[in-house]
Amino acid sequence: MSEPTRSRAIYEGKAKILYEIEGDPEHLILYFKDDATAFNAKKRGSWERKGVVNSKISAALTTLVQKAGVPTHFVRNLSEREQLVRRVEIVPVEVVVRNRIAGSLARRLGMEEGGELSHPFVEHYYKSDSLDDPMLLRQWILEFGFATESELVQMREYALTINRVVGDFFDSLGIVLIDFKVEFGRIGDSIVLADEITPDGSRLWEKGTNRKLDKDRFRRDLGDVAETYEELLQRVEAAIQQS
Ligand code: C5P
Repeated sequence: MSEPTRSRAIYEGKAKILYEIEGDPEHLILYFKDDATAFNAKKRGSWERKGVVNSKISAALTTLVQKAGVPTHFVRNLSEREQLVRRVEIVPVEVVVRNRIAGSLARRLGMEEGGELSHPFVEHYYKSDSLDDPMLLRQWILEFGFATESELVQMREYALTINRVVGDFFDSLGIVLIDFKVEFGRIGDSIVLADEITPDGSRLWEKGTNRKLDKDRFRRDLGDVAETYEELLQRVEAAIQQS
């Protein structure tokens, strides 16, 4: 297999860049940057190896969910911070799964963070930076054609499988998966996971102490951000090697 050669950048997000590949319209190169943003880029930061750590964590977790039957865009690692991925048409609906009260749910309802939910909540948000990703009602998604009924059913099933598989994995490391966000894409008639699974897009708390092992360390200025991301990667890699 010849190594793909990067051509034009077709998308630059807050933490990643997508490049086209010469002579291969079906794949892209996903490059993980060292930049971090929060509050829709109102807060910005950067630390060395952030992109490497996120790329490695995401590749490991994505491989786990692929094995559990969730199709994904991930093909293989190309370098420490570059992945070969399948080209998709992004569904403009962000899917959030919550197991515990935290973040915007706690804020909107004036609740303490950490309370358990009786079952995982699945919520939808409109993928729009200019509108600050507003929450969506199901009827809005259908009315405005952001996704079809069957795509919503499929995304929900995949999101709950990801929650179970990634949640069980972190549970075995003594870490609670509090919540996470994922995005999906279309390839023909199929829906595939088309997002990273990293501490940037999830909340991970140490069991017992509730120490935060995710981007809330950056958002809330809790300190030791780079060290905590590195620690998480080491724990993920050690568990994968043992399995
Ligand atoms: O802020 P909120 O509590 O709604 O976030 C829920 C989960 O989704 C968190 O894990 C957060 O990191 C993630 N998220 C994200 N990108 C967004 C919104 C939320 O990764 N635009």
